[in-house]
Amino acid sequence: MKQATLHQLKVFEVAARHGSFTRAAEELFLTQPTVSMQIKQLTKAVGLPLFEQVGKRLYLTEAGKELFSTCQNIFGLLSQFEMTVANMKGMKQGSLSLAVVTTAKYVIPRLLGPFCQRFPGIDVSLKVTNHERLLERLGNNKDDLYILSKPPTNTDISSYPFLENPLVVLAPSNHPLVNESNIPIERLAQEPFIMREPGSNTRRTVEKLFAEHDVSAQIRLELSSNEAIKQAIAGGLGISVLSLHTLALEGASNQIKILDVEHFPIMSHWYVINLSSKQLSVVAETFLDYLKNEGKEIADQSVVPLQKNMKDASKAAVSL
Ligand code: PGA
Repeated sequence: MKQATLHQLKVFEVAARHGSFTRAAEELFLTQPTVSMQIKQLTKAVGLPLFEQVGKRLYLTEAGKELFSTCQNIFGLLSQFEMTVANMKGMKQGSLSLAVVTTAKYVIPRLLGPFCQRFPGIDVSLKVTNHERLLERLGNNKDDLYILSKPPTNTDISSYPFLENPLVVLAPSNHPLVNESNIPIERLAQEPFIMREPGSNTRRTVEKLFAEHDVSAQIRLELSSNEAIKQAIAGGLGISVLSLHTLALEGASNQIKILDVEHFPIMSHWYVINLSSKQLSVVAETFLDYLKNEGKEIADQSVVPLQKNMKDASKAAVSL
């Protein structure tokens, strides 16, 4: 491997990521024959084939897979080093990879605005996915920080709760229960219910509460998007339970209301977590500090007014 160059490893990493020499050439602004030549020389240095072609597709061999994961480690460490050096020079620079659960997408982009303005040298990549997929990403060490409301207990992580995440019952504004107070939870069993998809933590939390109170929901529709659920509620397809944050941006045309149901809101928190074994980059540390110190204050600006109204269901109207 002594003859292998960093450039060859970079070309290989990109080609392996795309499973294509053509796409690697595009990403690296090289010609396709240059990519092939670099991979050929690297293969010679390794002494084993790195790719095999089946039909038109390229697959990594066992040696290729090992080299791919080694390259990811090498380039991860190099990028950490670059960020540390930038920090020594007094600049906060580098990249931050965040993965957040679907409901947190209503909050995190808003928090990123002031952060990116303060640190213009930081590039942020934000992945939005459900709870189960997020845990897969954590297990595969794909991102720097993760935001979710139920941190895993079987992985060695550091976690910090930074914001409340109330789950509320939502109904169309013309629903007969809208003006009632303290609605018994059992009453929800009579309503068509719109449920998040399996793998969603919102779904798991609702199912747990319903099971505790022997409520069997009539699930009319299963949707993996909070936005689609809100549209379905407004369209009269049923009621649902979503994070209050999903309403944060709404105006005043009153298509959805929060029902005053006993045992609601279900109170949980959002946590920012990271793998304990992974040393955080300077940039990730900077974002973590920002979340801890300022996250709640900024996010609350849009949610507290809704929360104040939550008890008075008739006032807690929101539009789409
Ligand atoms: P979900 O997660 O998007 O998987 O429902 C929500 C949460 O963990 O807060």
